[in-house]
Amino acid sequence: MTISVVRQEAIALVTVERPERLNALDTPTLRALLEVFHKLANDTSVRVLLLTGAGDRAFIAGADISEMAKKSPAEALAFAHLGHRVCQAIEDAPQPVIAVVNGYALGGGCEIALACDIRLASDRAVFGQPEVTLGIPPGWGGTQRLPRVVPPGIARELLYTGRRILAEEALRIGLVNAVYPAAELMDRAFELARQIAANAPLAVQLAKSATCFGTKHGLEAGLAYERQCFAFAFTTEDQREGMHAFLEKRQPHFRGQ
Ligand code: HXC
Repeated sequence: MTISVVRQEAIALVTVERPERLNALDTPTLRALLEVFHKLANDTSVRVLLLTGAGDRAFIAGADISEMAKKSPAEALAFAHLGHRVCQAIEDAPQPVIAVVNGYALGGGCEIALACDIRLASDRAVFGQPEVTLGIPPGWGGTQRLPRVVPPGIARELLYTGRRILAEEALRIGLVNAVYPAAELMDRAFELARQIAANAPLAVQLAKSATCFGTKHGLEAGLAYERQCFAFAFTTEDQREGMHAFLEKRQPHFRGQ
């Protein structure tokens, strides 16, 4: 099995399990990842997803180069499309997805991390888009998502040079939200996930959905969509529970309804 899923209450930890290849993604692993994200998207008991790589060396060291080396142009197109579908499934997951970057996040690995809502890194993490050093441009969204996450000039420099950056620089340019000592990373990721999971799940999902919608369709359409999301929240039990709990000076108990 190349992808494992471990549940801890409302949190699901998804792990790419190819440590002998530094979790590089070949077609079967990509397909398995796609299937896992589609399944988890429909599981209303899951409130937050964590995505990481097995072992202590890599998050995902990119697409599998030994597989790519043999591809025809038509096969390369299909491979790019499959990677796009995986990234889209991550972005379209109703739950927030946190990338727990415990080592190399290169090429397709960096692109998968970019599709996540939040990136946390260990002090050993290394990021980069080294595709141009292999004779190809990025093909799983790096040209589109990197300039939307870090300043465009920095994104272009990284995309054109293929330069690898360490966790500290990734933090400075806004590619990651936080950097932790490697031994602490997973605990801190669960801590953040629990903090999110304690909130009204539908409200969190609406916040994600509106954020993604606005990024895709622009400010005006995003604001119109945000108004609809806001109004929809008033059809939920959790909205009444959240506000009554505040007024009654007690902790809310959200049921995701
Ligand atoms: C296939 C990979 C791999 C990859 C590592 N391995 N990355 N196999 N595809 N992307 C394999 C190595 O071949 C090796 O196998 C084993 O994992 C351990 O890696 P080493 O190279 O021995 O480790 P080290 O010397 O520490 O170097 C680590 C590394 C290096 C710096 C991460 O492995 C590396 O540069 N990997 C490639 C990173 C990369 O260019 N990624 C982008 C790919 S392009 P053996 O059998 O020798 O032990 C991409 C495009 C996405 O992602 C879009 C597609 C449409």
